[in-house]
Amino acid sequence: MKDNPIIVGLDIGTTKITTVIGEVGDDGSVDIIGEGSVPSEGMKRGAVVNLERATGAIRQSVQAAERVSGVRVASVFVSVAGNHVKAITSHGLAAIRRHQEIAQADVDRAIENARAVPLDPNLEIIHTLPQEYVVDGQEGIKSAVGMHGVRLEVDVHIVAGTAGPLLNLRRCVQEAGLKVEGFVLQALASGLATLEAAEQSQTVVVIDMGGGTTDVGVFKRGNLAHSACIPIGGDHVTADLAQILKLPHEEAENVKRRYGAAVPELADPDLTLEITTSNGSTHAISAFELSRIIKPRLTEIFGMVRDEIDQALGPVELVAQSVVLTGGASLLRGIPELARDRFRLPVRVGRPRGIGGLTDIVNGPAHAGGVGLVLYGIGQDGKVPVSVFRPEEPATPPPPAPQPQAAAKSGPEPKKEPGTVTVVTPAPGQPAPKKERPKDGASLKDRVRGFFKDWM
Ligand SMILES: Nc1ncnc2c1ncn2[C@@H]1O[C@H](COP(=O)(O)OP(=O)(O)OP(=O)(O)O)[C@@H](O)[C@H]1O
Ligand SMILES: [Mg+2]
Repeated sequence: MKDNPIIVGLDIGTTKITTVIGEVGDDGSVDIIGEGSVPSEGMKRGAVVNLERATGAIRQSVQAAERVSGVRVASVFVSVAGNHVKAITSHGLAAIRRHQEIAQADVDRAIENARAVPLDPNLEIIHTLPQEYVVDGQEGIKSAVGMHGVRLEVDVHIVAGTAGPLLNLRRCVQEAGLKVEGFVLQALASGLATLEAAEQSQTVVVIDMGGGTTDVGVFKRGNLAHSACIPIGGDHVTADLAQILKLPHEEAENVKRRYGAAVPELADPDLTLEITTSNGSTHAISAFELSRIIKPRLTEIFGMVRDEIDQALGPVELVAQSVVLTGGASLLRGIPELARDRFRLPVRVGRPRGIGGLTDIVNGPAHAGGVGLVLYGIGQDGKVPVSVFRPEEPATPPPPAPQPQAAAKSGPEPKKEPGTVTVVTPAPGQPAPKKERPKDGASLKDRVRGFFKDWM
C-alpha cells in the first residue's frame, strides 16, 4: 500500500499552539488525520520570549497530533505573525524583445526586479507573492507566459521577518526535533483556509482575530495583496474585563465567552451577573453594561484595521467587496454586526473549508491558521490549491447559532468565592436584585465611564 504525502501545520499562537496533520489524496484533496492543541507558552505577540517553554509546548502539541494520527511528524510549516513581520508591495518590470512570446524567464525577471527593493539587511524574506500581470497596459492577466507584448509588469507582495525572532522560532521547532519546512504568514494561512470559491474573484479582507494579535490579509482575486499584523487581540478584551470587574483572568475569560457581546444592543436585556471581586466585595452588572466594556476594545481593533487598509489601498468599502472574520476571537456574539457597522461591507465568520477527515475537530475559526498551513503546504505558491474546491463539496454549514445567554441562567450552582460570577437574573415578575455599591462610593457605571475617559 502506498503512503500518501503528509503535510503538517504548526500554528504557534499567543493563546494556543496547534498542530494539524493533513494527508493529501491522489486527486489533491486533503484529509485532516491529526490535531493537537495545547495552551501556548513562551510566546508574546507572535515572538518567542522563553525558548525552553515554547519548545516544550510545541513538543506537546505535535505529540498530541501524532497520537491521534498514528503518524510520526518530521517536518512542519510554521506560522509567523507579530510586529517583527514587515510586508510591502513592490512593482517589477521586464521588457520583452520584439516579436517574442513572454517566457518564464521574463516573468522571473519581472518578479526579481520587484524583489530588488532596498530591504533592511536584518530582514529575511518569507514570501514573494506575485499578483496578476499587466502586459502592455492590459491588466488582470493570471499567467503571462506565451502572450505577446513588449512590456511585462507585476506587483509582488513581499513579506519579510526580522532575522532574530525567526531564528528563535526555528530554534524552538528544531529543539522539538522537527525540521522547518517553511514559514508562512498567519494572515495568508487563514485566508487559504477560509476563502470560498466565489471570493476568489473578489477583493476580500480576511481578519484573523487571535488572542494576542489580529492578522489582516487583503486578498485580491485569490492573491494576498496586502497584509498587516495588529498587536491587539481577544485577550485584551479579557484583560479589560478582568481589570474593570476586578476578576481573575480565567473568570473574566469565562464571562466574556458566555455572556459577552460586541454590541450592547445584542446583549441579553434580562441578564444580570453578580460579581464577587478578587477582594471579596460584590457588585451587579447587566449584560448590557458588560458589552459596553467589551465594545471599545473591538472598535479600536477594527479602527486600526481600517486605518491600515485606508492608508495602503484606499477606503476599505471602496477597495473590498466583503470581510471574512476568523480566529478564536471572532466567536464572540455580535462581532460580525460590529464589523459590518465599522467596515460598511458584508461580513461573515470564516471557518476552515475544503478539507475532509477530522472536520468536526478543526472546523472552528480558531483552526483557520493551522488548516491554512496544511493547504499552503500543498501548493506552496500562496494560492488556494484548486483541488480543495471540489464541486461535490457541500456548502459551508452555517455557523452554529449562538448559545442563548438565557441558557446560562439555569447553569451550575452559584459560587460566591472571591473572583467569581453568579447569574442573578430574576424570574419574570420578580423585582431585580438590589445592586450593591462598591465600597469606594463610585458606582460601577462611573468607574466604567472613568475607564473610557482615560482612553479618549
Ligand atoms: N467562544 C468564544 N467567544 C469569545 N471569544 C473566544 C471564544 N473562544 C475563543 N475566544 C477568544 O479567542 C482568542 C484566541 O483565539 P485563537 O485561538 O485564534 O488565538 P491564537 O491563534 O492562539 O493567537 P494569535 O493568533 O493572536 O497568536 C482568545 O482571546 C479567546 O478569548
Ligand atoms: Mg492565531
